Amino acid sequence: MATIPVTPYSLGVCYYPEQWDRSKWPEDLAGMRQLGLRYVRIGEFAWSRLEPAPGKYQFGWLQEVLDLAAERGLSVVLGTPTATPPKWLVDRMPDMLPVDQDGKPKIFGSRRHYCFAHSGYRAESARIVTKLAETFGQHPAIVAWQTDNEYGCHGTILSYSNAARIGFRSWLQDKYQTIDRLNQAWGNVFWSMEYESFDEIELPNLTVTEPNPAHALDFRRFSSDQVRSLNREQVEIIRRLSPGRTILHNFMGEFLAFDHFDVARDLDAASWDSYPLGALTLLDVPENHKRKFLRSGDPDFPAFHHDLYRSCGRGRWWVMEQQPGPVNWAPYNPSPHPGMVRLWTHEAFAHGAEVVSYFRWRQAPFAQEQMHSGINRPDGSPDVATAEIQATVSELASASFKHNDQSKAAPVGLIFDYEAAWTLAIQPNRESFDYFTLALSFYRSARRLGLDVDILPQTANLDEYKLLLVPSLPILRPELIASLKTFRGSVVIGPRTGSKTADFQIPSNLPPGPLQELFPMRVVRVETLPDFEPIPVSWNGASYECRYWLEQIQTTATPWITLENGNAVACTHEAFTYLATVPEQSLLDAIVSDIVSRANLPTLLLPDGLRTRVSGNLRYFFNYGPNKVSLPVPKETEFIVGGPELSVAGVAIIRLS
Ligand code: GAL
Repeated sequence: MATIPVTPYSLGVCYYPEQWDRSKWPEDLAGMRQLGLRYVRIGEFAWSRLEPAPGKYQFGWLQEVLDLAAERGLSVVLGTPTATPPKWLVDRMPDMLPVDQDGKPKIFGSRRHYCFAHSGYRAESARIVTKLAETFGQHPAIVAWQTDNEYGCHGTILSYSNAARIGFRSWLQDKYQTIDRLNQAWGNVFWSMEYESFDEIELPNLTVTEPNPAHALDFRRFSSDQVRSLNREQVEIIRRLSPGRTILHNFMGEFLAFDHFDVARDLDAASWDSYPLGALTLLDVPENHKRKFLRSGDPDFPAFHHDLYRSCGRGRWWVMEQQPGPVNWAPYNPSPHPGMVRLWTHEAFAHGAEVVSYFRWRQAPFAQEQMHSGINRPDGSPDVATAEIQATVSELASASFKHNDQSKAAPVGLIFDYEAAWTLAIQPNRESFDYFTLALSFYRSARRLGLDVDILPQTANLDEYKLLLVPSLPILRPELIASLKTFRGSVVIGPRTGSKTADFQIPSNLPPGPLQELFPMRVVRVETLPDFEPIPVSWNGASYECRYWLEQIQTTATPWITLENGNAVACTHEAFTYLATVPEQSLLDAIVSDIVSRANLPTLLLPDGLRTRVSGNLRYFFNYGPNKVSLPVPKETEFIVGGPELSVAGVAIIRLS
């Protein structure tokens, strides 16, 4: 059956009918339609109401909600309820609980209290999903499904349970076949860590000092595979019993504990939950940056994830949850600038979202998230976001948009790799070496020049790109080396690239390992420094600082930026630039800008906090900054939304000739 099409530029909302008296349902659903929303996501936490006792299904209420939604012309995304197993289920199988690094099980009383590797839990997940899909799979209101909810939220990917131990041993056996091969790959002769059989292998927690990094990396890979297989089980059931419906999962921002490219491969589309203000509080950026963007969010964070999940979804993606006001879960929870909800919505469409759905219809007066705002207040009165959503709906209706064409590659590609994040987290070689921060800063440098970026896995086809950014890639895959050999654009490569083999060993020809086929250099020493000892760099008459990581390289390539002691921190060879340190943002901006201008890529001079994105024949501008700005556009520009002056939180859309 062909997939039921998604209406482009649509809005939606997350709704929890089980949390409200049934007398409210008709007016709530009607209110959504009145506001111009088309999609409603329901059900993802409702297991205890769907199956209050083992095998006693109570699906009548859900049937009623689905019928009401269909009558009102709302399309439903049905969530599988597996992120919240009910109490009776946990009591029957207490060993399904995830176990933390200290060996303590997490207990019932919130959510995500399951271990991905537990076969009993997996059978229960398949059972409830089968039952739901058998009952509602053909319901006319259902156009999409969401598997589970935010895999891994609250630190639940790595579980040190007995189920994980058993699963890990057989995963290792499949991978290595013989124990000798495993001993060899891990280097277990070190500290007499050799094993005689796979059954002797424990999980990499509770060791006296750090476990073998190869052991830890394989456990991360195993744990990521568990997410993939649980997700795939649900997808296969839904695909069989509810054909034609788009199957999604709602991923998170700045979350790297499993390989999202891998998991998304089994879905029809990706989606993610965008909480820009909460996310900024957790970013590793200077305090003045946090102050400047307190009420708008980091100007590159949502866009980074839009581009990442567009890539994961192979072009198809949604925002499943969009922050509508203050959240409850960050260290502090400011209110967005008036206009930001509208801006975030337009920006998602500019990056190719099919649907933007707000979290949530009405603020709950009870339980954990009672301080989390919604479109409506707990008493049902409209909260601030309502007016902005109304404005967005009418702009989307009146503007002559055609369906957003994202098929053309952006000028810039950025290689993003989950295994890189795990490798750097397992062996930071100092207190921390944050992969996400580094990747975001490379992305930021391109976006500050007005350049669009595609975020790509190592296996992507690179032919169309003019500039490739590789923030750091300790384990280089042969596919990437092969594509780099024929790549015709410029490449900027960050530190630690090629520094490990797939077995977490130092390459026999020294770092950057296989990259030496393309770049004649060897890293002969690495040192790391504390935050209080930045590395000063003077370049092109300006002073900068680099941070915490410094490689000494031997090379016949041209040193480009050098320290006073002559140590090169940037070298170039043909179209490649290698960075031997972590440059502060302004230095990275200057480096990327220099390379971009030599590559003759057209750029824009953007005022601080302004960002832009091309979508088909439209160009969007978004003002994240604290001041009004003038757009860098010619006088005769045709504006579809906004004008040449952009106020704080303003959006402009122009037609490109
Ligand atoms: C998401 C989650 C929602 C809700 C929301 C609050 O992480 O999927 O259920 O908790 O955050 O911001």
